[in-house]
Amino acid sequence: MPPSSVRIGLLGCGVVGQGLLKLLRERERLIRDSVGAPIQVSRVAVRDPGKRRECELSGIHVGTDAMAVAEASDVDLLVELAGGEAMLEPVRAALRRGIPVVTANKHILALHGEELERLAGESKTTIRCEASAGGGIPVLQALDHGLRTENFQLLVAILNGTTNFILSTMARDGRDFAEALAAAQTLGFAEADPTLDLSGQDTAQKLSILVRRAFRMDVAFSSIPTEGIIGMELEDLRQADRFGYTVKLLGIALRHPEGLDVRVHPAFIPKRYLLAAVRDEFNGIYLRGEATGSMLFYGKGAGANPTAQAVLGDVVVTARECVSGVKLLGTPPMRDPEQRLPLDQVRTKYYLRLLVEDRPGVLAQVAANLGATNVSVAQMFQAEGVRGEASITILTHHAKDKDVREAVAGIAKLPTTRKTPRAVRIFDI
Ligand SMILES: NC(=O)c1ccc[n+]([C@@H]2O[C@H](COP(=O)([O-])OP(=O)(O)OC[C@H]3O[C@@H](n4cnc5c(N)ncnc54)[C@H](OP(=O)(O)O)[C@@H]3O)[C@@H](O)[C@H]2O)c1
Repeated sequence: MPPSSVRIGLLGCGVVGQGLLKLLRERERLIRDSVGAPIQVSRVAVRDPGKRRECELSGIHVGTDAMAVAEASDVDLLVELAGGEAMLEPVRAALRRGIPVVTANKHILALHGEELERLAGESKTTIRCEASAGGGIPVLQALDHGLRTENFQLLVAILNGTTNFILSTMARDGRDFAEALAAAQTLGFAEADPTLDLSGQDTAQKLSILVRRAFRMDVAFSSIPTEGIIGMELEDLRQADRFGYTVKLLGIALRHPEGLDVRVHPAFIPKRYLLAAVRDEFNGIYLRGEATGSMLFYGKGAGANPTAQAVLGDVVVTARECVSGVKLLGTPPMRDPEQRLPLDQVRTKYYLRLLVEDRPGVLAQVAANLGATNVSVAQMFQAEGVRGEASITILTHHAKDKDVREAVAGIAKLPTTRKTPRAVRIFDI
């Protein structure tokens, strides 16, 4: 007998949880027709049950014990929207007893994704996580289903709305980093503590989730070389513009004959790239597949409604499985472990900006440092500065990443160098 309704246990009733409850109510009829039975929220766990919420909770058991919800007999589907490591045990508990899970928690997926998917498989259930990477963009469902059997060579993505908003604001309005960050905070695009976003860690977590789907490879997020946008100066964005580039914080996964190159860092990208048009708080995921060629997924990476819609998509598919008893396809099977290409060995172009003493012989010293590690100059621009200083901008040809970093370290130590050189990779393949 198919169940007369699918009962949800909801962990967290914050921005996304409230958005989900609102959509469940507003789209009740469409959801029931899609699932084949109504969806009811039977239990909710929050930190503070006394807090005022923008949603109707009457008739729902509201408590503070997430584990009790995960283990409750009146829960057919666990939806985890509380976030953080504390939700790992409740999610494990639900999966162990064969209860499917929908979560938006990039943290536990990036750290424990392999284990949670194995647990789900062992219990013949599923864990879905569309909202954990790319927010409202349905890229994981596309990778799990329509693109499941595609071979991808390249994934380049803008996965963090906060940093994209900051870089877009700096470039467009000529504001410096601190002003653009303050604007992002005022508009609610940045957390009070934006460290995870600015450091690139948030992008690395999402990239590890995407690489798992697109390349069917388990890449621990802690193993991804990661650099954020802290230290990015307005002058770097001006120079990027001068040379026909725009600056983005990228998550990159690129297949080379020697192995998979996975990294997160800010990069100059040509203005003609589709990703260059992904501005402000928007996200974009560019994929290049063997059969499909180029594709761009574009949309909102965060916010109550877009994220709740992504969660609802997973909820509907999973609830449909509960009703029909037929499991749809889950995460694609992993390939045999593949070699990784270490960042040191990656060949890339670089943008360098140096502040040096403006006197004869200085340029020769800079050139000698670059030449010593086989880094050749593609373009150079020198501007006279104040106080006997000169600002030199250099674009290099492709060189090994390690060699460029060694050259830059050498230049930084020259007595004629006035400021730590700025060095940003150019992603132009
Ligand atoms: N916001 C977005 O745009 C967005 C986008 C993509 C993914 N996500 C992910 O979605 C998840 C939820 O994000 P959010 O923005 O909705 O967060 P939020 O507004 O901070 O809400 C978190 C909710 O979880 C509850 N909670 C926290 N710890 C708990 C615990 N130990 N036990 C029980 N309840 C607990 C909180 O209770 P109280 O309300 O009582 O404090 C709150 O209702 C996170 O994993 C986040 O990374 C969010």
